[in-house]
Amino acid sequence: MSLLQKTCVIIKPDGVGKKVVGKIIDRFESEGFTLQAMRMVRPTRELMEGFYAEHKGKSFFEPFIRFVTSGPLVVMVWEGDDAIARVRKILGATNSPEAAPGTLRKSWGTDNRRNLVHGSDSPASAVREIAYFFSDQEHGPYDPNAWEKAG
Ligand code: CDP
Ligand code: MG
Repeated sequence: MSLLQKTCVIIKPDGVGKKVVGKIIDRFESEGFTLQAMRMVRPTRELMEGFYAEHKGKSFFEPFIRFVTSGPLVVMVWEGDDAIARVRKILGATNSPEAAPGTLRKSWGTDNRRNLVHGSDSPASAVREIAYFFSDQEHGPYDPNAWEKAG
């Protein structure tokens, strides 16, 4: 049984810099997901340290925070059946060169830091991450075909 879920996706500064924002959005649309919210964010250190609080204290945290605050982000909410796991699969493994062929990270990621995109890893993370960037009103519910069904 499939479950309609929302997940938080972030295009990191390398994705914006490589001008593949459109290609990333196109991929999720092609896979049948519905875009529920999207905003460009100029990240501060404080904002991203809070978002990635689970990694605080790890050896990669400082250089990673420098990278993820090095330019604008595109923060999005995508909705679809089993969206959390399916989006993670489309992203690919954290270390870009080791990601499966056809994944976004394999296509345009560089290494295990500059890996193009973030995706929520669990329902609890998705709720927290969506609320971190969007108000309830901003991320739905929204059915793009509702006006047709209403007649
Ligand atoms: O994003 P994902 O869940 O695949 O990986 P993570 O282990 O939760 O790490 C979060 C992010 O930290 C990664 O996506 C990388 O951008 C970064 N990272 C890093 O800079 N150096 C590492 N050794 C591991 C992760
Ligand atoms: Mg993670």
